[in-house]
Amino acid sequence: MNPKIQTALIGCGRRGRLHTAGMLQDTRYDIVAVCDIDLDAAKKLTADFGLDNAKIYTSYDRMLDELRPELVVQALWPQHRLAVYKSCVKYGVKHMVSEKPFADNFGDAREIRRLALESDCRLSYTHQRRFSPANRKVRELLAAGAIGDVTRVDLYAYRHLLDCGTHTLDQLWSYLGDIPVSRVYGSLELEGSVKWFDVPGEGSFAGTVIYENGLYGSIFAGLGEKRPEQSGVTLYGTKGYMELGWEGRLYSYASLDMRSELAGLASWSDGECCGDNIALMWRYLADCRNSGDDVLDNNEINWRHAYNAVEVIFALYESVRTSSSITLPLEGVDGNPLKDIIARK
Ligand SMILES: NC(=O)c1ccc[n+]([C@@H]2O[C@H](COP(=O)([O-])OP(=O)(O)OC[C@H]3O[C@@H](n4cnc5c(N)ncnc54)[C@H](O)[C@@H]3O)[C@@H](O)[C@H]2O)c1
Repeated sequence: MNPKIQTALIGCGRRGRLHTAGMLQDTRYDIVAVCDIDLDAAKKLTADFGLDNAKIYTSYDRMLDELRPELVVQALWPQHRLAVYKSCVKYGVKHMVSEKPFADNFGDAREIRRLALESDCRLSYTHQRRFSPANRKVRELLAAGAIGDVTRVDLYAYRHLLDCGTHTLDQLWSYLGDIPVSRVYGSLELEGSVKWFDVPGEGSFAGTVIYENGLYGSIFAGLGEKRPEQSGVTLYGTKGYMELGWEGRLYSYASLDMRSELAGLASWSDGECCGDNIALMWRYLADCRNSGDDVLDNNEINWRHAYNAVEVIFALYESVRTSSSITLPLEGVDGNPLKDIIARK
């Protein structure tokens, strides 16, 4: 029998607590330590979740050096992604599962990618919406031809393209497979702009994403568009369309061949659509780990999707900055082009 997964959590805020709750539903995880620079947050988490045996740290370097855990969960703001991953590599951690977005600047993103390709520390990002039961059902329905061949998509992020758009881009890939993006262009407004997790976001964004297979997408953030849910994807196919929320809720549809199947999904409640997607994600990762290295290497939330998403988003910002379309892979960008756009206003 496989030993339990010795797990250390870095970041005991909102997401750290949700991941703890999700992991505790699976007896294969053993949370051996938690770390937060705010000692009270770490103590509160261990007390609230009954983690009596977990060690508490305020320095993740010290924790990783002393314990060398198999798995690290990184639930910090995006500025920390690279430094924590470097530590995991240094101290021989086998797998780091990180919060999204991938990084707050493209230089760090490229360095994380290099380490993921060259080191033995696996890397995954918590695009947990892939595990929502309704999103799984949408995949099945699309594969069965519910709307024929998908020819056009609209991608919606409620706010903040970097923070929310990563889920939306990933949602499409979860449905249609990893179709690479070849070219993007975009436009944005700064009025009403936000700063989340100390990372700037636009007021609103509208752009075009052209995929290598010829699929055309529009991408929107913060437009307050007239749509039942402001995050999600609308897919247009040769035999119908589906208007979907982030968790796979089907708001409206048409289908030449599979109307009754789509009506079935449209009747699901919000709760049925979302399910306990974080717990489902942790169960899936434990299954992968126990199925062997190859399966874990190719787990559905491996770093590639989150990297591809952040590359598309920084390319969209670079398109605005340079007033031109941008061909991927993105070159000549090290920071976050949105910061330059804001600075020159
Ligand atoms: N996957 C999703 O759907 C989803 C949803 C919401 C947020 N997020 C992402 O999760 C990340 C974390 O968000 P949050 O809401 O949990 O933030 P938070 O502020 O609630 O928690 C962050 C915690 O990290 C601690 N911390 C800061 N620096 C540290 C360090 N050097 N070492 C150890 N601990 C440190 C803070 O004290 C705090 O307790 C963000 O990047 C956000 O974008 C993801």
